[in-house]
Order: sequence, then structure tokens, then C-alpha cells
Amino acid sequence: MRPVRARVSRPASPDVRLTATVASAGCAAKLGPGDLRAALAQLRQPRRDRRVLVDASTLDDAGVFAHGRGEVLVQTVDFFTPIVDDPYDYGQVAAANALSDVWAMGGQPLTALAMLCAPDTGLAPEVIAQILQGGLDKVHEAGASVVGGHSIRDPELKFGYAVTGVARRRKLLLNSGARRGDRLYLTKALGTGVLTTALKQGRLEPALLKRVTRQMASLNRAASEAAVEHGSRAATDITGFSLLGHASQMADASGVTLALSPSPEWLLPRVLEYVAADVHPGGLARNRAFFRSKVDEAGLEETLLRALYDPQTSGGLLVAIAPRRARAFEAALRRRRVWHVEAGGVGARGEPAVRWAAPARA
Ligand code: CO
Ligand code: CO
Repeated sequence: MRPVRARVSRPASPDVRLTATVASAGCAAKLGPGDLRAALAQLRQPRRDRRVLVDASTLDDAGVFAHGRGEVLVQTVDFFTPIVDDPYDYGQVAAANALSDVWAMGGQPLTALAMLCAPDTGLAPEVIAQILQGGLDKVHEAGASVVGGHSIRDPELKFGYAVTGVARRRKLLLNSGARRGDRLYLTKALGTGVLTTALKQGRLEPALLKRVTRQMASLNRAASEAAVEHGSRAATDITGFSLLGHASQMADASGVTLALSPSPEWLLPRVLEYVAADVHPGGLARNRAFFRSKVDEAGLEETLLRALYDPQTSGGLLVAIAPRRARAFEAALRRRRVWHVEAGGVGARGEPAVRWAAPARA
């Protein structure tokens, strides 16, 4: 097959600063958790088809529909405003982020439909082409195919995909699958919301921009495959609602408490510095306001605590795994060169849903 990338020129420094054209960047552009739930709570739900195994009611990462013997369809959609200035990188990150929810459920993505909202003036066709090319190349890397899409005029640029994957029904990674005694692992460093806010303000150094972009564009595939292989039953990807938001949703759905052992090593470089200087997206405060009743906040240094409410774009997985399988799982992550930290453990249900544990052993 002819390499497609050759057809699209990729200037070293784009003449448009994409992040400067939108009010909020990436997953920080999402509705806050409170606003969204208030609207969803008003819906009259029709009777659920019995083949619908997972819908939005459990706040899982994707919908699951029974299809064939022991096989299920895993479906999700995610699109957002530019999170970085380089159009090709933006396309890559948007694709990695949209694909992630399929892996967060233990599935393999098969097909993707592109969604593009773009202003009809001011953006050169080359810029649009680079965004689409970044997405196309990333979906290809994931082993999936872009089979179509839809575009619409919109004053703010937005891009992403609806993704369909498949999974084995008995191997699904659910929000509700965490069990007492499980160990917890986090597979990407935190702080993308903080660092991309610094970028939007023109205060992020190039080396760190490169690092955060590479992390956001990296796929959660290897982490998901390792989790499924080692018998995990629960995972979620850390995105707009932050580590503490997504952890509390897993705790609630599973009827357990998550005991986390946060450390500055969980964060990308300079995140604490920026948080201390109040450089962070508005979503951080919205997440804290909504989820703080779920978290026993006492005893953690304030700057580190705030960083744990940072909305992530294309964040890693939070995986729960039985203690007897934890070491083999960790070895599998190392073999696959997946960044990870042991993040704590799962305890009996208590209030609130998330508390601090003693630091994980080194
Ligand atoms: Co998700
Ligand atoms: Co999502």
C-alpha cells in the first residue's frame, strides 16, 4: 500500500495556532459533570433492549451490545476542540482519545466514523487535511479502519470519531468490576489539562510540549491487552472528569472504596508548579466542586490534590486487578513498555468512595 502521509505536507511550524481559536481546549471543552447529569436525569428512557448489556446508566466508557456467541459490540464517540496547535498532532490525539474508550472496556476497535466541525473561513484546506491525516494514521496504527464521516460548519473547530469495536462478553472491563483486595494501576502520567492550558497561554517549553503531545497521542491498546490477558474485570480511562472523578465512578459502580496513594511521580513534569501558579483549565475547579464529596481530601498536600482533579485528554487506564495476578500484569506492562504506577488498592465500601492509602511499595 502507498504511504498516505506523503500526500499531505506537514509544515514544521503551522501558521495558525489552533488552540488560540477556541475557548477551551480538548476534553476541558466538555460539559461539566453536574450540568450533564441534570439533563440526563430528565430523560424518559424507553424499555431497554435485552441485548443492550451496558448503557450510559453505569457511566461506563462505552456502550455494549450483545452480538453473536459470546461476542459484543463496543461503541463510543468522542470529539473535541484543538488541544495542541499542530494540526497533524491534533488529529492523532483526537483519534487516540476516541479509540481509548473501546480499550477501556477491554475491546478491540474495528471501525471509526470521523466527525469534523470547522469554520468555513480562515482555515486552509491543508490544515483540515493534516488533521484528518493525523487521525487516519492513528486509526490505522490501532488496527482499525476509517469507514466514513460527517462534517458541519461551526465557528469553533472540533474533531473526533465514533468508534465501534468488539470484545468477548466475559472479558469486558467494566466500571462495576472492581473487587475488594484488587490492586490498582495507572498507565499514563497526569496533568495534560494543566500543561495544555500553559500551552494555550504561550508558557509551555517545546520539549515538554513534545512530551505531553507524544503521551496524548499514544494508544491505550497495550495496557488494555495486558489487562484482559491477566484477567482484569475493571478498567476505565482517565479523561475529562479527572483521576478522582473517574476513580469515584468506578468505586460507586463496583460498590467499593478505592484507596489511592498519590505521589508527584504520577504527574508530568512541572504540573505542580503550574497548579501552584493557578495555571489550569476551568474544568479542574468544576471537577473538584462536583466530586469532592466523593473524596476524603484530608491529609494530602493541596497542590497535589488539585492536580488529581485535572481534566485529562487521552489519559491512561485505571486498571483493577486481583492481587495474585498483579505482579504478572506489571511485568506485562514493562514488556510492552507501558509507563505505569501502582496507584493503590480496592477496599470494602465505606464513605467516601475515594480515600488515601499508604504509599505503594517501591
Ligand atoms: Co472513558
Ligand atoms: Co469518552
